[in-house]
Amino acid sequence: MKREGAAPARAPATEQMNQQSTIMNAPAAKALPDAQTVTSVRHWTDRLFSFRVTRPRSLRFRSGEFVMIGLMGENGKPLLRAYSIASPSWDEELEFYSIKVPDGPLTSRLQHIQPGDEIILRPKPVGTLVLDALLPGKRLWLFATGTGIAPFASIVRDPETYERYDEVILMHTCRDAAELDYGRELVESLPEDPLIGEFVGDKLKYYPTTTREESPRMGRITDNLKSGKVFADIGTPPISPETDRAMVCGSLAFNHDMKAILEGYGLREGANSDPAEYVVEKAFVD
Ligand SMILES: Cc1cc2nc3c(=O)[nH]c(=O)nc-3n(C[C@H](O)[C@H](O)[C@H](O)COP(=O)(O)OP(=O)(O)OC[C@H]3O[C@@H](n4cnc5c(N)ncnc54)[C@H](O)[C@@H]3O)c2cc1C
Ligand SMILES: NC(=O)c1ccc[n+]([C@@H]2O[C@H](COP(=O)([O-])OP(=O)(O)OC[C@H]3O[C@@H](n4cnc5c(N)ncnc54)[C@H](OP(=O)(O)O)[C@@H]3O)[C@@H](O)[C@H]2O)c1
Repeated sequence: MKREGAAPARAPATEQMNQQSTIMNAPAAKALPDAQTVTSVRHWTDRLFSFRVTRPRSLRFRSGEFVMIGLMGENGKPLLRAYSIASPSWDEELEFYSIKVPDGPLTSRLQHIQPGDEIILRPKPVGTLVLDALLPGKRLWLFATGTGIAPFASIVRDPETYERYDEVILMHTCRDAAELDYGRELVESLPEDPLIGEFVGDKLKYYPTTTREESPRMGRITDNLKSGKVFADIGTPPISPETDRAMVCGSLAFNHDMKAILEGYGLREGANSDPAEYVVEKAFVD
């Protein structure tokens, strides 16, 4: 990750991060409307990759929000899709974590981007997976399947998350073990991270599972909640509206099932305009 500056003082965290995020690298001349330049690309599996791009000087966003990004279509019109910003709000670049849909209009092409290429990025961030849409609480649960981890890759790198919560639990489930690697590497790097390691401390608990390939921890998030296995494994009491807050990001079916489970615990769905105990966003449109 490309960053500037020395290790941060403890407070005020967010202000310090913003000061360190001097945005110097937006290109002056652009062939595309709202163009940003790709700075790095990493392929994780044959259907997943991540990449980083320059950040527009004007772009301010809250960790967890999404923007529209894309490429110029063959018809001369921008071909845009919603993408969660996977980097935190203080980062000087923007990171994205992407699926490769073989016949997908955008990702069949986007998967071939290289450093130096340009993409289109509309600088209008929106979304419900933001800390402000939740009432204060002690414990924050982040529930993701597949690329639904992208907004949480932003939130777990934001110092404000650890200022607001005593404990943060990230549950991520994929079919196969290799599909967990992006999240695993990110989480494992955080305690030693010179910029936010001291905020994270031992507050972040990570609970990855697979559902199809054998791995040390298996099972759907929904099943591990309903059986109580996850509470026993990490040593927390069951979810309660007094102490626990949650964010959900996965397929429509997963989001639907998680809403029923969270409401069964007594949590109510919140929004930017009406904060409550949990928030949900689609990781993709089925
Ligand atoms: C709010 C929001 C945020 C999103 N954030 C991300 C993100 O951070 N990363 C990301 O990769 N995608 C994200 N998506 C999905 C993204 O907008 C596109 O659908 C995706 O890039 C594929 O584009 P496409 O044109 O290649 O195929 P599309 O025509 O858009 O999709 C074709 C089909 O591929 C499948 N598909 C699409 N996206 C995914 C996915 N992410 N995981 C599994 N299957 C998928 C679906 O079955 C879909 O019907 C998000 C979608 C929404 C609504
Ligand atoms: N992942 C792959 O290797 C792969 C390969 C080729 C094509 N695809 C296609 O790509 C699309 C998306 O696949 P994906 O793997 O990214 O996403 P996905 O099908 O949503 O599965 C991601 C994870 O979420 C779990 N899950 C799905 N529905 C759930 C629910 N209602 N409650 C709890 N957990 C749930 C899955 O468990 P289960 O395993 O129990 O369903 C899996 O572990 C699908 O159309 C798929 O056919 C995927």
